[in-house]
Amino acid sequence: MLGPAILAASRSDKMRRIVSAAPVTKPVVNRFIPGETVDQVIPIVEDLTAKGLEVTLDVVGEDITTVEQSHAARDAYLQLIEQLAHLGLGETAEMSVKLSMFGQALEGGHELALANVRPVVEAAAAIGTTVTLDAEDHTTLDSMFAIHEELRRDFPQTGCVIQAYLFRTEADARRLAAAGSRVRIVKGAYKEPAEVAYQDKAEIDKAYVRILKILMEGEGYPMIGSHDPRLIAIGQELARQAGRKLDEYEFQMLYGIRSEEHLRLAAEGHRMRVYTAYGTDWYGYFMRRLAEKPANLLFFLRSMITK
Ligand code: FDA
Repeated sequence: MLGPAILAASRSDKMRRIVSAAPVTKPVVNRFIPGETVDQVIPIVEDLTAKGLEVTLDVVGEDITTVEQSHAARDAYLQLIEQLAHLGLGETAEMSVKLSMFGQALEGGHELALANVRPVVEAAAAIGTTVTLDAEDHTTLDSMFAIHEELRRDFPQTGCVIQAYLFRTEADARRLAAAGSRVRIVKGAYKEPAEVAYQDKAEIDKAYVRILKILMEGEGYPMIGSHDPRLIAIGQELARQAGRKLDEYEFQMLYGIRSEEHLRLAAEGHRMRVYTAYGTDWYGYFMRRLAEKPANLLFFLRSMITK
C-alpha cells in the first residue's frame, strides 16, 4: 500500500524540496542515477558496453513549466549525442526521452514537444543510433503516439513504450506490431485510476503476457522491459515459439536493479540493454523507483534515522 502514496508524493513540490534537501538522499539516489553530467555518465556507458551490455540513456527530467526548459532538455540530449559520436559509442547507446520534458504539457505543447524532439531523433540517426519515447501517465499517450507516428515517417527506427497496466494497450500493441517498429513493453510506473488501468498485480502480469505475445507474433522488434524473473522466462519462451532469433528482440532493465541478471542474460547471448538515467532533475524518476519496491523506501528512511 506504500506504492500509491509514494507515487502521489512524486508529484508534490513540497515533498520534492524535503527529499532533495535531505543529506542522506544522494547515496541512495546514486544507486539508480549514477551521475549528474555527461562526463560522469560516459565512463558508466563504457563500463557497461565493455561487459557486453547495451545502453539506453535518459537525461532525467519531466513536467517542465517553461519553454526555455524544454529547449534546455533538447540541448542536453544534443550534447549527449555529440559526446557519444566523439567516443564512437553510437552503435551501442541509444536514447530514451520523456516528452513532458520537451514541453508536451505547456500551451501548444504537442507541437512544441515534436519540434524539440525532432532534432534529437535526427542527430541520433546521424550517428547510427535511435530514440525511444517513454510512456508517461495515460493523459499524455495520444499525443505521444501521434508524435511517434510522425517521427517514424522520416525515422522509422524511432521506438515507443507501452504499459501493460492500461486497458488500451492490447489495441495499441496490435497497431504497433508492424514491420520495422521498435516497442518496449513495461508494466507501468504511474498512479493510474481504475477507470483506465488494472490495479491488481496479477492482472497486470497477465496483461503483460498477452501483449508480449502480440508483439512477439508481430513483425516489429519487441523490447522486454522488466526485472520480473517470471516474465523474463515467459519472454524467452514466447520468442522461441514465435521462431525469433536472439537478435530479433531484446531485454531491457534499469541501471542499479538486478545487475547480475543483466550479465546472465548477456552471457546467454541475449541482447540486454541497461536503461541508464543521469542528470540533476532526478526526483520523479527516483520516487518511482522507491514506489516499485517498498524495501527501497525502508532503506532510505533507515539511512535518514541512522545518520
Ligand atoms: P516488478 O515490479 O514486479 O519487479 C520484479 C522484481 O524486480 C522485484 O521483485 C525486484 O526484485 C526487482 N525490482 C523491480 N523494481 C525495483 C526497484 N525499483 N528497486 C529494486 N528492485 C526492483 N514505466 C513507465 O510507465 N514508462 C516507461 O517509459 C518505462 N520505461 C522503462 C524502461 C525500462 C528499461 C524498464 C525496465 C522499466 C521501465 N518502466 C517504465 C518501469 C516499469 O513500468 C516498472 O515500473 C518497473 O520495471 C518495475 O516492474 P517490473 O517489470 O520490473 O516488475
